[in-house]
Amino acid sequence: MSEIPVITIDGPSGAGKGTIARQLADELGFHMLDSGAVYRAAALHALDCGADLDDEASVLDALQSMQARFQPDPEGVQVWLGEQNVTSRLRLETTGNAASRVAVMAAVRESVLDEQRSFRKAPGLVADGRDMGTVVFPDATLKVFLSASRQVRAERRSKQLKEKGIDVTMACLLQEIGARDERDSSREHSPLVAANDALIIDSSDLSIDEVVAQIKSALSTADTPGG
Ligand code: C5P
Repeated sequence: MSEIPVITIDGPSGAGKGTIARQLADELGFHMLDSGAVYRAAALHALDCGADLDDEASVLDALQSMQARFQPDPEGVQVWLGEQNVTSRLRLETTGNAASRVAVMAAVRESVLDEQRSFRKAPGLVADGRDMGTVVFPDATLKVFLSASRQVRAERRSKQLKEKGIDVTMACLLQEIGARDERDSSREHSPLVAANDALIIDSSDLSIDEVVAQIKSALSTADTPGG
């Protein structure tokens, strides 16, 4: 068991995990892992290599040559594939959907485990994703499962996309979020479920500050590794 504290924040798309994780990491002075970016980078690289996203062997073959670099920045994370900065392509809805297709593959999940665990560095880590508390960091100091109603998540996603100049209809977003939820929750390997020992927070009617305050309060009473 590592002595370095980890706070995991899992939950469905659009629950606010990234925003909450970033604010929490800033306030605590911790590193941050956006594990969705790791799956998005894998999917993008597989697509760029011409892999068939429904064929595990084809995706795995493509991933052999993946050279990804993740560099934190105030907006989240900058991502390079080889020499190419792919950060804006990474955030496209189509890339999110491609990521959720490769994320059903056990061998793909296995192949990105070490990359994800390498983010655990002193003084601590805030990791957000779907299986951070259940699979990647089962010994986390504090596990949070963050949810919100589908409508609220679609509204938040629409706002985020609008800020980037991308216009998508609510009906389309609701449908995409529903399909992604279904795929993430029903997959055989590392499905999206709350860890038994997770603190469950429904953020539908809470502000970012209120969610962060709840997590910090739970952290102050959590057992710290080695403590
Ligand atoms: O969180 P984000 O939308 O960037 O994740 C993209 C996709 O990557 C998710 O829909 C999910 O299928 C997959 N993912 C995963 N496990 C994680 C993080 C993301 O399966 N820990």
